[in-house]
This record gives sequence, C-alpha cells and structure tokens, in this order.
Amino acid sequence: MMFSRQIHSCADARRLAKRRLPWMVFDYMDGAAGEGYGEAQNRQVMQDIRLQPSVLVNVEHRSLDVRVFDHDARRPFGVSPMGMCNLATPGADLMLARQAARYHSPVGVSTVASTPLEKMIEVAEGHAWFQFYFSGDGRVVNTLIDRAQVAGYRTLVVTVDVAEVGRRPRELKRGFKMPFRIGVPQFIDFALHPVWSLSSLARGKPDMANFGGEFGTFDRTETRARADWDDLDRIRDQWKGNLVVKGVLNVADAVRLKAAGVDAIQVSSHGGRQLESAPYPILALRDIRTALGPEFPLFFDSGIRSGEDVLKAYALGADFVFLGRSILYSLAAGGERGMEQMWDIFSDEISIAMAQLGMDSLKTRPTPRVPEGLGYS
Ligand SMILES: Cc1cc2nc3c(=O)[nH]c(=O)nc-3n(C[C@H](O)[C@H](O)[C@H](O)COP(=O)(O)O)c2cc1C
Repeated sequence: MMFSRQIHSCADARRLAKRRLPWMVFDYMDGAAGEGYGEAQNRQVMQDIRLQPSVLVNVEHRSLDVRVFDHDARRPFGVSPMGMCNLATPGADLMLARQAARYHSPVGVSTVASTPLEKMIEVAEGHAWFQFYFSGDGRVVNTLIDRAQVAGYRTLVVTVDVAEVGRRPRELKRGFKMPFRIGVPQFIDFALHPVWSLSSLARGKPDMANFGGEFGTFDRTETRARADWDDLDRIRDQWKGNLVVKGVLNVADAVRLKAAGVDAIQVSSHGGRQLESAPYPILALRDIRTALGPEFPLFFDSGIRSGEDVLKAYALGADFVFLGRSILYSLAAGGERGMEQMWDIFSDEISIAMAQLGMDSLKTRPTPRVPEGLGYS
C-alpha cells in the first residue's frame, strides 16, 4: 500500500492513520479514558525511564527470541487483543494472524474480534491466544471458552479491567457504536475519507464476528461489574490450558491471582482506556515483579511505542510484551505492508538498542535507570 514507505516510526504510522481513517474510527482507536492524561502521562513516564548502556561487550550476534510458556517466540513482542481491528484496514485480523504464524509470536484474539476465533487460530498456525470478557449471564463466556478449546487455543486471556467500559469522550462525540450505525455525521465523515470508505465499506461493515446466529449477541457496553473471584475460580476449573489475567495494576490483586493458580498476569492499563487516574502501568510492573518474585510470568502492555519501550518493560520485570495501538496505526497507514514495516521497525530498534546495552539476548534483563521520585509512597 502506498504509505508503507513513509513509515519509519510509530509516530509516522499514527500521523498517516489519522489522515486516512474516518474521524470516528481514528478516535475509537486513538482515544482513551477521560481527557486522555492518564494515557499520555504513562507514555511520559515511559520516556523518563532510561536504560543503562554497557560498552565493549561482543554483541555481534544478537537473538530476539524469547521463551513464552512452552515455545520460543522469534520476537520479544506480540499483539495485544483488540476489538474490531478490521476497521483499520479490511482483513487486518488475518494479517496479524499471518504475522503471528511467521514469527511464532502470539496474537491476541479479542472476544469482539472482527474475524471468527476459529479462523484466527488456523491462520496463526496455533500462535493465537483467545481473550474474553465476562458477560451478563455467564453463558456467552462458557460457550466462548468451549469454542476456543475446541478450536485448539492453548492460552486464554481473561481481561478483568472492564467492570464498566471506560468513558471515552472522543468515541462518544463521534457516535461510535459496535456494530456501528451510519447516521448523517458518520456519512459525512466517511464521504470525506473515501479511500478508507471505498475499501472498507465495499467489503461490508466489519462486525463482531464471534457472535450472531447460534452464537447470540454481545453488548460491548453492558456492565461486567458483577464478575468476582468466584467467576475466576470457575474459569480456572474449566480451562485446562494457560490462563492469563490481563488488566492488573494492583500488587495485592497480583498476589491473589498467583495464589488462585493463574499461569501469568498481564500488567496493563488497557492503554489508558479504562481509568484515567490509574497508576502508571510501567511502574506497577516493577512493583508487581518485586512482590511476586523473579520466576512468575508477567506480561506487559500499554504505551509501548518503540523498541526501546519494549526493552524498558523487560528491564522493569516483563517476560513478554504486547503491542496495541502502534500496530493498529501501521495497519491503517499501510495495510499488511505497513504492519510488517512497523514490526521490522520494532525489531530493528530492539536489536540496535541491545547492542548499545551490551546484550546479546533477552535472557538477562536490561538495567533500568528510574529517576528518583518516580514511584509511589
Ligand atoms: C482499538 C482498541 C481495541 C481494544 N480492544 C480490546 C479488547 O477487545 N480486549 C482487550 O482485552 N483489550 C483491548 N484493548 C486493549 C489492548 O489489548 C491493550 O491493552 C492496549 O491497546 C495497549 O496499549 P497501547 O495501545 O498504548 O499499546 C483495545 C485497545 C484498542 C486501542
């Protein structure tokens, strides 16, 4: 696609995505809770953290492989589950699945993905993790878990930070709904972004592909505030594979999750989309690592915009890192080629930074330099 040659950083991809996408779609992807300062401040803290270089180490041969559960991912990052990725560009979900298959890096498949979960694991050649949300009466959850198991998923990600969907004023202003409705403002918006509209709407409106017909419906904005530790216990009993709990920022919660028998925790603020005043996830990661000890698997997402950010997450305790908006921007900016380019940019940035840090693999952690005063009392 035409823009891919112009992508040399995440900021490039975001700028191009903003130009190409209808406002409604861009604001859905880019938006955050409240005024967005929580999301912005986390990225600022990420920038304030520094990495300690080390010179005159022979690091000519560097490996980006990382072991995650029982296999080697060929990159130290994967793609976090995101709903309705096909809004970025038609076929986006399958582009992500193909990339996951190529690199053996997991792609998260959202409950509200725009491609059926069965198709995703097939195309990802097993390198897909299914993410689900609790839902009203629990039945949809059980059906989805069974479907995921039958489809061959080995890792289930339970997202727990959406007791209620966060208020995101940019989405509300644009009238974003899933499945989306096209009123007069949206019609004008689409007409003003013809490249996107012709390619996306011509293929039919992207939808929540895991629902409909025999699979019932899903209300994205319904309350999930009823879900509690007993629900988690039931899922732990039902799911025999790896169980990851995503959206944890509280040390006490993390300690209890470990005791409840989950296999990994994904420290995340949902990219700042849920609680504007949430603690900075990158610092919560450090505190949770300290509390749970060096062995317990911890994953991280939120605010990762460069390869150096990925290394900072490893420095502060992550065992694997997930990308969110950065990948969506690149899909919107340049389709499959744009996404591959973003992937290569992250890979190059990580490899080059590892050379400066004197690291030939991620078997050891980079040394972080956290400014004094950044932390919590
Ligand atoms: C457009 C969009 C949709 C998302 N949908 C989901 C989802 O369905 N399930 C989920 O667990 N997280 C979802 N997330 C959160 C991501 O998995 C991830 O936590 C977040 O995007 C990481 O932050 P970053 O975008 O700053 O990298 C979504 C994020 C975005 C941007």
